[in-house]
Amino acid sequence: MRIGILTGGGDCPGLNAVIRAIVRTSENRYGSSVVGFRDGWRGLLEDRKERLRFDDRVDSILARGGTILGTARVNPEILRSGLDRIQQTLDDNGIDVLIPIGGEGTLTAAHWLSESGVPVVGVPKTIDNDIACTDYTFGFNTALAIATEAIDRLHTTAESHQRVMLVEVMGRHAGWIALHSGLAAGAHLTLIPEQPFDVEEVCAMVKRRFQRGDSHFICVVAEGAEPKPDSMTLREGGVDEFGHKRFTGVAQQLGAEIERRIGKEVRTTVLGHVQRGGTPTAYDRVLATRFGINATDAAHAGEHGKMVALRGSEIELVSLGEAVDHLKVVPQNSYDEAAAFFG
Ligand code: F6P
Repeated sequence: MRIGILTGGGDCPGLNAVIRAIVRTSENRYGSSVVGFRDGWRGLLEDRKERLRFDDRVDSILARGGTILGTARVNPEILRSGLDRIQQTLDDNGIDVLIPIGGEGTLTAAHWLSESGVPVVGVPKTIDNDIACTDYTFGFNTALAIATEAIDRLHTTAESHQRVMLVEVMGRHAGWIALHSGLAAGAHLTLIPEQPFDVEEVCAMVKRRFQRGDSHFICVVAEGAEPKPDSMTLREGGVDEFGHKRFTGVAQQLGAEIERRIGKEVRTTVLGHVQRGGTPTAYDRVLATRFGINATDAAHAGEHGKMVALRGSEIELVSLGEAVDHLKVVPQNSYDEAAAFFG
């Protein structure tokens, strides 16, 4: 059998571990070959690819961040209109099953392809952890570790200066990194896209903390966090590849507003792409490797139109259609748990 693979959307630590596992399992367990398409779906639209062999360079990539195949964000409309072209490239290269490794956008395109009859097995990835039907995506644990370490470090400098520190972490539509790093690093407040915040309430919380003699205030802000409409207006930052409204610098803007309203000194740190780079944690390497092995098994077992998913401690196959039906956002009860530490 000939397997095609691609990595699409924003990169994340663990992509190379999946690639390695697919190549290893294909060659060793099934005697199959693997072709890697370059730069996500673009490689299929433009027929750019390379033959991947375990002994060449693939064995050594387990701990490396990023993706040796390259990746790209492609507008879904371009993909939709390019499905015939993609199918043609797959036929020209004799690909029997395609394994796209990606987040919301990549897996949605994978679902469209599958609907049009192409054998596809999806592998979920994203630091945002917002793909439905899987408990975790790889990349999340690494991003969480990086964010947690950064917040730990901010505590000591904030204490020394009795400052308010805002830390902006990634998470456009879901606040998983913010929620978990806030819990792990003992933040005094966490703002996420799922729970619009009131600036007055934030200011009141800051004031109360300092009035009762606490030394500092650490607030984790997901980049997609939004104020309640009548509380503050954020400057807009264009749209993302899905046409969703995007805000830039929510933490900076909130920090300026806190300073203006209560005269407290605020410093803001935006972690940005540091959260996506570098070597994956052991947890992410294991999860990515297990996803790769199981996706290869599914491809050979004819389990197409499915996505590998972590359910509890088991890797299971779920319907691709269900997985891309909606994003997995932070539920109310999880936010309520974290709120026990707010203030
Ligand atoms: O989807 C993953 C993610 O890291 C988001 O958290 C973030 O908003 C976005 O990608 C950034 O994308 P880009 O690398 O294209 O700026």
